[in-house]
Amino acid sequence: MSEDRLTDTIKPTVELIRRKRDGQALSEAELQHLLREFEMGNVLDSQMSAFAMATCIRGMTAEETYCLTKAMLESGKTIEWDSSTSVVDKHSTGGVGDKASLLIAPLLASFGVRVPMISGRGLGITGGTLDKLESIPGFNCSLSLEAIQSAVQANGCIIAGATDEIAPADRKLYSLRDVTGTVASIPLITSSILSKKLAENPQALIFDVKCGTGTSMLTLEAARDLATSLVTTCKRFNVKAKAIITDMEQPLGTAIGNAAEVREALLTFHGSGPADLVHLATTFAFELLKLAGKEIPFNDVTANLTNGHAQNHFEAMIEKQGGRLCQLPAIHWTPLIATQEGYLESVATGDLGSLLVRMGGGRQHPGATIDPTVAIAVAKKIGDKINKGDVLGAIAHPSAKPYLNELNEMLTISSTPTDPRPLIMGTVDQ
Ligand code: URA
Repeated sequence: MSEDRLTDTIKPTVELIRRKRDGQALSEAELQHLLREFEMGNVLDSQMSAFAMATCIRGMTAEETYCLTKAMLESGKTIEWDSSTSVVDKHSTGGVGDKASLLIAPLLASFGVRVPMISGRGLGITGGTLDKLESIPGFNCSLSLEAIQSAVQANGCIIAGATDEIAPADRKLYSLRDVTGTVASIPLITSSILSKKLAENPQALIFDVKCGTGTSMLTLEAARDLATSLVTTCKRFNVKAKAIITDMEQPLGTAIGNAAEVREALLTFHGSGPADLVHLATTFAFELLKLAGKEIPFNDVTANLTNGHAQNHFEAMIEKQGGRLCQLPAIHWTPLIATQEGYLESVATGDLGSLLVRMGGGRQHPGATIDPTVAIAVAKKIGDKINKGDVLGAIAHPSAKPYLNELNEMLTISSTPTDPRPLIMGTVDQ
């Protein structure tokens, strides 16, 4: 059917919204039309918001999710690679203290694959990789597609933001979702994430789907649904994919806060990283290399994290993007000392994320500036034995005292032993 005839048969926007409201599935041509008209300014913001709300409530079939993703992807450009070197990427759905991308991109590059990592900023209580990197003076994350391509060809990896060339329909739709309570929809999240990741033209993708109070997927069931949607949609695009669901009932690693998290990543390259962060970074790199057809022994992946190979790629990436690591701000910690003994039973992880935002380390409204030097540390993991006088955590803020009290309230210590929590809660394959 010619495009003209297709367009003739498509119902007006109001009719599409009504049908979605009534739980009906829209066709590929209808979704493409809606997105194209939205891009051209012929669909009102109010109409697109109503469509997002209808989708949020009614959901979408797997076929619709694929078609929406395709339409969003096709609203922008994709990177064309000039050789057969594998292009891979990892995406995290966002958590508290999640600095793993800073390690994983260079670790992957150290095995000769290309990683054009398009990342995002902090959203609500969850931190953003770009905000962490921008705590490095001079770091530029606004690269054109050509600049991304040439930097990746030179050094193997970059971490940058989505430009206007990448899925512009997502940018426009996301800004409406953000203010209309329509972020929490699995098809909308899937199409939003994948329209940007697929623009990298990758061979394989791995997803870290976070689950727990420190992220938006609160239950294992919800996390599994999102993981399944991401992985099955990738399959429709012939991109190999795997999702690993990881625990977000406690922060990843120790530090929460932009410059502090970059410092923790640097410590990890030097072999002094927290065990959970090392485990997560090496597991994701190992699994993604396997998806891309590179069977690297797990021990070799672990070795490259701390033997200088990954660090060299990290430093070259920062330098290429204008960052001056030697000027990374210092963090001035005030410790929180345990006054009782017992076992760490739980961590109010979402509250830690909100506390960082209130301390100035995240945005209370879009466009707000971030103080990269404020930070929170949680030095213990759930199940750890606590003795009086132990350092439980720390606050980095010019007026630390009230925040130390808040941090103390967020860590529940029990007199009976508590089991440690496994980091990996499940996997979803294609
Ligand atoms: N990240 C995105 O890029 N989009 C979403 O919808 C949610 C998280």
